[in-house]
Amino acid sequence: MAATDLERFSNEEKRNLSLGGHVGFDSLPDQLVSKSVTQGFSFNILCVGETGIGKSTLMNTLFNTTFETEEASHYENVVCLRPRTYDLQESNVHLKLTIVDAVGFGDQINKDESYRPIVEYIDTQFENYLQEELKIRRSLFNYHDTRIHVCLYFITPTGHSLKSLDLVTMKKLDSKVNIIPIIAKADTISKSELHKFKIKIMSELVSNGVQIYQFPTDDEAVAEINSVMNAHLPFAVVGSTEEVKVGNKLVRARQYPWGVVQVENESHCDFVKLREMLIRVNMEDLREQTHTRHYELYRRCKLEEMGFKDTDPDNQPFSLQETYETKRKEFLGELQRKEEEMRQMFVNKVKETEAELKEKERELHEKFEHLKRIHQEEKRKVEEKRRELEEEMNAFNRRKVAVETLQSQSLQATLQQPLKKDKDKKNCELQYQRTCGR
Ligand code: GTP
Ligand code: MG
Repeated sequence: MAATDLERFSNEEKRNLSLGGHVGFDSLPDQLVSKSVTQGFSFNILCVGETGIGKSTLMNTLFNTTFETEEASHYENVVCLRPRTYDLQESNVHLKLTIVDAVGFGDQINKDESYRPIVEYIDTQFENYLQEELKIRRSLFNYHDTRIHVCLYFITPTGHSLKSLDLVTMKKLDSKVNIIPIIAKADTISKSELHKFKIKIMSELVSNGVQIYQFPTDDEAVAEINSVMNAHLPFAVVGSTEEVKVGNKLVRARQYPWGVVQVENESHCDFVKLREMLIRVNMEDLREQTHTRHYELYRRCKLEEMGFKDTDPDNQPFSLQETYETKRKEFLGELQRKEEEMRQMFVNKVKETEAELKEKERELHEKFEHLKRIHQEEKRKVEEKRRELEEEMNAFNRRKVAVETLQSQSLQATLQQPLKKDKDKKNCELQYQRTCGR
């Protein structure tokens, strides 16, 4: 089909036709429901709140079961995320529920980075999903979707205001996840204080630009209840798995010396409202918002970061194929440029090294010549000294011979003198003897 025919065809108005009888495609919604039920659902809840604020108790109360729990210590150096997945079944509906705990949240002395591991965890789940989507052989049908559908943010019931940590963390998370703020352990705060506390929290969230999840009001069936519930945020909840007898009924409650706080009594706390909104009315909207809003934003930013665009600089549609080709060309060009740069660098380095070696050789040669000159000079001096010493030795030997000759002459002369004296003495003695007549 020629391009112009195609354009004409797609621009043609769609005509409304009436059916002559029952065809059957009105069963599509039922088919969809049946397929979804067979496939099962996944729902992932992130619990953020101080250690011991009542996160695990609330989860157990919400799902009316006992999940694995481990008390966190107050000595964690960093916040770490601990996901746990459970398979739940209600009627014929299977739910793969993941509860992620932000262990150690609020326990560090320096809380500047407390939000970071939570953001990273959420992003990692988005990244895993994106990687699955980008695969050639995708298996999204049975992919375990771990993207966080809702973040229950547990506010400490101080009755004052939000902490900076709460505001910073919620601000960092609000573009990545649906946040439902809840006031935990609401039984520890009086009714009038709670009312003021709720107003304060909402005004602080608004003034700091924190976007919390709003129950949708575009679906007529739930618009009314959702808009009423939006006005009740943040929900003040009480958790308990303990059963207490009230009248002749066993109810989940917290028992105190002065009375009983019933978890499911709407005049005691907002637990029922939370359960209605989170599970019974808006669970699918939370899943949908996660996919269409938060994941979409992540995906868009990530693909843009990678250089993918929908339009070219002239605002013309730009296909993935074209983007790929452009990127490939850019990459190859860059690679070539880098290669050339490296080659040039290598040549320069070789030249530099060569010049350095030549300079070193010249220096060595000069040094050698210098040493040679010094050596010759030394040799000449030593030769001269030797000659002088030889002359001195000759002179000395001559003097020695002369002295020895003189010495031998004088010795001879000295030896001859005592002989003469002895002769004279003998002559005198002879003379004397003759005179004395002996
Ligand atoms: P970590 O996982 O260790 O951070 O604690 P957590 O936030 O899961 O708190 P957990 O549910 O273990 O509860 C801690 C304590 O608070 C327990 O003694 C609970 O009984 C108590 N608790 C839980 N919920 C409530 C509540 O609504 N009101 C009151 N007063 N106490 C509660
Ligand atoms: Mg816990």
